[in-house]
Amino acid sequence: MIFQLILFASAIFLYIKIAKPYLLYLKYKKYGNGSFFPIIGEIYEQDKDLKQHYNADYSIQHSLDKDPNQKIFVTNLGYSVKLRLIEPEIIKEFFLKSEYYEKDQTFIQNMKRFLHSGIVFSEGQLWKDSRKLFSPAFHFDYIQKLAPLVNDITDKIFDQAIKNKQLQNFDPIAQIQEITGRVIIASFFGEVIDEDKFQGLTIIQSLSHIINKLGNQTYSFLYFLFGSAYFQLGITQEERKFNRFMTDFNEYLLQKIHKQIESMQLELSTKGQIQNPCILAQLISTNQINQISIDQLFQNFKTFYIAGMDTTGHLLGMTTYYVSQNKEIYAKLQSEIDNNKDQSAHGLSKLPYLNAVIKETLRFYGPGNILFDRIAIKDHELAGIPIKKGTLVTPYAMTMQRNAKYFTDPHSYNPSRWLEKQQNDLHTYAYIPFSAGQRNCIGQHLALLESRIILNKFFQMFDFTCSQDYKLIMSYTFLSEPVNPLPLKLTLRKQ
Ligand code: HEM
Repeated sequence: MIFQLILFASAIFLYIKIAKPYLLYLKYKKYGNGSFFPIIGEIYEQDKDLKQHYNADYSIQHSLDKDPNQKIFVTNLGYSVKLRLIEPEIIKEFFLKSEYYEKDQTFIQNMKRFLHSGIVFSEGQLWKDSRKLFSPAFHFDYIQKLAPLVNDITDKIFDQAIKNKQLQNFDPIAQIQEITGRVIIASFFGEVIDEDKFQGLTIIQSLSHIINKLGNQTYSFLYFLFGSAYFQLGITQEERKFNRFMTDFNEYLLQKIHKQIESMQLELSTKGQIQNPCILAQLISTNQINQISIDQLFQNFKTFYIAGMDTTGHLLGMTTYYVSQNKEIYAKLQSEIDNNKDQSAHGLSKLPYLNAVIKETLRFYGPGNILFDRIAIKDHELAGIPIKKGTLVTPYAMTMQRNAKYFTDPHSYNPSRWLEKQQNDLHTYAYIPFSAGQRNCIGQHLALLESRIILNKFFQMFDFTCSQDYKLIMSYTFLSEPVNPLPLKLTLRKQ
């Protein structure tokens, strides 16, 4: 009897977890290509690609090669069926129907242990309120005021690399993340508040430690089995130690924010204005600080740091790598930078080739080219496809931006394509490295400002090559990233 019960329970489990998703997968597959592997689906595909092509995103990037007219690619992840949207019109409709979707919790639960309800992970009124409050501080005109700060921090980090003799083995992603991390801290607080240490680590080191640890946990087998609850419980001593570190660091950072607010309020009341342009100064001087709790402010600071540090660091690190692989591209960019007379942020925004290089890296590899998964919260239709509640539906710029219909020779890195008129007349939704719709990237102006300043300085200060025996292997965690650090060799240029 017990044996029969177990058999029956197993049959139900297999039906719900494997057969039901598979039947749904077959239904969706009428509308596009696809691949299904029970439970691990997309992860299986990425793992296979990593072994076969040294690139976990190979199939994602190449799935339009045979038929560029496909609208969707169907796959599965966990027990859910997933539709990758890979065509501009269906993506446009997706963004217009945003009320039918929320961010799926499966892979973000663990990050939420640290970021709670910051803008990236909140929904509904909470998201609306935060977005409204912070938008002015990320406005194009306001961001331009941060140019001197980005310049200073970039000088400091590059000088430090020279002093510490790191030029012969320069890891551009890690080094540039030092810059982008500091820029976010300073653009929030008005200065790099990194002098004193928490448990022997600077704020940047502590934040990096937390992000890396949470990221590793999320992509582990235990997470797949039990979710973030397993790590929250602190079963091993190591997990308990990490959980304590996170709690104590939160407390430490919160105190810093309190102190900074007090000192800015004092500056405003005694001097009539706050000298350093930053997000806190903006909120205090417009009295908007009263519209947000300190906790919300705090969760958003951490969110901006995590959303902005890694992404921009990867974008620029990968740009140096791709440029190093092609002498012609390198020479063209170098020549434009050497001949430019206007070093202001405005001047750099007018350099055609520098901007084309940044645009091309965002197309070819963009760190945000796979969005967080969205889950349908109601049954509805998308481009005539009936979508069932519970289906994952996510735009994949990583596939769409490799479509030969929109980008000639899409798998080659070619900044010059952006200098052609035809490329600039693209469908608005065919190129969305910062996403689109109301939840597009709030920090895109900051990211572009940083990109121009940092690349400009890098090319002014250094000649560089990438080690001949380096083999680029791209894997995927929260972002697509090289498994082994990019090894650049730098030499100082004559100024
Ligand atoms: C090259 C650099 C960057 C890229 C490629 C990028 C890309 C993106 C993308 C694709 C999204 C949408 C994610 C989704 O909805 O699933 C996003 C959202 C976001 N980004 Fe960025 N980002 C970059 C830099 C930054 C910076 C510098 C900041 C801030 C300091 C930032 C803050 C945010 C925030 C707060 C959101 C959430 C917006 C919302 O949900 O309303 N990002 N970013």
